[in-house]
Amino acid sequence: MYRALLVYFSGTGITRHFAQLIQEQMEKRGHSCDLLNLEELTDITVLWQKKPVALPYTIRAEEKRPLSKYPWPYVKLRDALNSAAENPVLKSLEHEWDDYDIIGFGSPVYGFRPAPVMIRFLLDLPRFKKPKRVFSFATHDGAQGDYENFMSQVLTDKGFTFAGHIDQTFIYSASAVMRKSFDHLNSGRLLVKKSDEARNNIDIFLKYLDNIFKGVKDIYRIATPMSIIFGLPYRLIYSYGIDFLLNYFLFGFGIHHDKCIQCMTCVVQCPQGLIELDEDNYPIRLYHCMYCLRCLNWCPTDALYFSRLTEDKARFPGPEVLLEAVKQDQLAGRLKNL
Ligand SMILES: Cc1cc2nc3c(=O)[nH]c(=O)nc-3n(C[C@H](O)[C@H](O)[C@H](O)COP(=O)(O)O)c2cc1C
Ligand code: SF4
Ligand code: SF4
Repeated sequence: MYRALLVYFSGTGITRHFAQLIQEQMEKRGHSCDLLNLEELTDITVLWQKKPVALPYTIRAEEKRPLSKYPWPYVKLRDALNSAAENPVLKSLEHEWDDYDIIGFGSPVYGFRPAPVMIRFLLDLPRFKKPKRVFSFATHDGAQGDYENFMSQVLTDKGFTFAGHIDQTFIYSASAVMRKSFDHLNSGRLLVKKSDEARNNIDIFLKYLDNIFKGVKDIYRIATPMSIIFGLPYRLIYSYGIDFLLNYFLFGFGIHHDKCIQCMTCVVQCPQGLIELDEDNYPIRLYHCMYCLRCLNWCPTDALYFSRLTEDKARFPGPEVLLEAVKQDQLAGRLKNL
């Protein structure tokens, strides 16, 4: 039996849901598993602001219309990898994580890569001297691009032994902010279905991990030539699609002052700590943003928008709300049949 730790970032809750499913399946197999949300390591928000890691889509977006009030240059991934230096705040993790036999690192896929906050965190980790197995996990909407490759590269660079990768598509939560409406019950039903699919995939992955621990040679997944050939056009369309959407439709930060109740939810919820208050105490974003959509989705009065395309549109309330809608529907069905 092994002791596992799952370190994750989740913009709007889907990756947290996936991490909980992995935990559930690990515990069913008799292993122990702790969860660690990156945002619980609170000092890190400040680090993210001061050392932004930009993905290509955000570099292109901000080149067109710079919002950042700080003159820090955006660091490209290759340069960031080459100049990565251990962060003293994270130094103790090498000892704190000593008792874990395996660590999983997970995040949503943003622009084909891990979310910038996860990248920043991994780059800032110390080099682990004792051998430690790790794996990566991700949730996405169907095109994860370089995610696995990037994770295996950075984690190996930090001294870990990369054991594999597992990913899952759940619901198209990211596009909710551009849709007219978002059906909670149907999306909840899809989430239930996808979660069952995820449990099966996790089980196969965990069998593979068990074999690795037993020293038995095993293969989890091999990319077939067909999957590479058919995946390529999809990757290109998705890549340019994301770029196009973010640059032309999503990029920006707007607020309806008449709707804002100055509750500070957006300020507190921003994982990068980017939202400040203006002189009238209304939120304003002046820094580099990764478009995690949390401020937009979590605003209780729908006062925020990024562009006209997201103005007065549907919001994704998080997986728990969708699952609750399914539960209530099942309960109503049972009561009707009594
Ligand atoms: C800024 C941004 C970029 C994204 N880029 C991709 C992408 O390149 N490929 C993909 O399949 N999904 C992409 N997505 C969708 C998310 O990966 C997906 O919705 C994920 O499950 C969200 O997880 P979370 O709720 O933990 O944040 C993107 C979402 C956002 C907000
Ligand atoms: S400003 Fe909003 S979208 Fe940008 S990182 Fe913060 S919460 Fe996410
Ligand atoms: S979450 Fe919405 S209502 Fe609350 S301060 Fe931000 S914009 Fe205003």
